[in-house]
Amino acid sequence: MKSENIQTATLDSEKLPAHVAVIMDGNGRWAKKRLMNRVKGHEKGSQTVRSIVTAARELGIGMLTLYAFSTENWARPKIEVSALMMLLKRFLVSERDELMTRGVRLNILGQKEKLPKDVREEADKTGGMTRNNQGMVLNLALSYGSRQEITLGVKALARKIKAGVIQPGEITEEMISDHLYTRQMPDPDLIIRTSGEFRLSNFMLWQAAYSELFITNTLWPDFTREEFIEILINFQERDRRFGKVKCSTSNDGSPQ
Ligand code: FPP
Repeated sequence: MKSENIQTATLDSEKLPAHVAVIMDGNGRWAKKRLMNRVKGHEKGSQTVRSIVTAARELGIGMLTLYAFSTENWARPKIEVSALMMLLKRFLVSERDELMTRGVRLNILGQKEKLPKDVREEADKTGGMTRNNQGMVLNLALSYGSRQEITLGVKALARKIKAGVIQPGEITEEMISDHLYTRQMPDPDLIIRTSGEFRLSNFMLWQAAYSELFITNTLWPDFTREEFIEILINFQERDRRFGKVKCSTSNDGSPQ
C-alpha cells in the first residue's frame, strides 16, 4: 500500500496519455514455466485484465485498448480458442456491474461477426449497457488485425469513389482514420507490450505512427498496477516531437 502511494505521487495527472494500448503477451510462457496448461495462463491473464482496467480507470486514463484476440489467433488449437472465448464471455458478463459502477464504456474493435454467437451477444449487451458511460473507454480488440482493418477501410472508400460520393484526390489521412475500427478515437499515445517481444504483431499499424512504445519483459499474468504506473511515469519523461524539432531551437535547427 505504501509503495503504491509513493508511485502515484510521482505520476503527473495533467500529463496522462489519452489512449494507452496494450499487447498482452506471455500467458502461454507463464503457464509453461509452472508446468501448467496454456489455458491456466489465459485464466491468470484475465485476472490481470481486471486489475489493469481498474488501475487505468482510477488513474484517470481516458481510453484503454487491450489486444485480446488477433485475426491470427484463430489458427491456435481449437481447445485454446474455445477456452479464450469462454474467458472473454465470462469477462463480458462478470464485469458488467463493475464497468457500470466505474463509468467505463466498452467497445469491441475487430471482426465481431466472426465471434461465436454467445460471445457476440454478451459483447453487444455490455456495449449497449455501458454506451453512455463517460469515465473511460475500454476497447477490447477481438478478432482484430490491423491489415484486415485497413483492407476493410480501403474497400469502403473504394465503394464511395465508385458511387461518386468522393473523388480519389479528395482522400485524406483523416478520411482513412475514419474508416478504421478506431474511427473518432485518438491514436494510442502509448503502446505497452509485455513478455519482451519487439514487434507490433499486426496491431494498430496505422494508428501507431507516433505512439511511444514500451516493451517490458514481464509476462502478462505477472503484470501489475505498480509496473503500469512506472511505465506511465516513464512515458511522461519522454520527449515527444512528432517528427518536429523542439520549440527551443532556432530556425536553422541549432539549439538555442
Ligand atoms: C498472448 O499470450 C495472449 C493472448 C493471445 C490472449 C490474451 C487473453 C487474455 C489476457 C485473457 C482473456 C482476455 C480478456 C479480455 C478477459 P500467448 O498465449 O501468445 O503467450 P505466449 O507467447 O507466451 O505463448
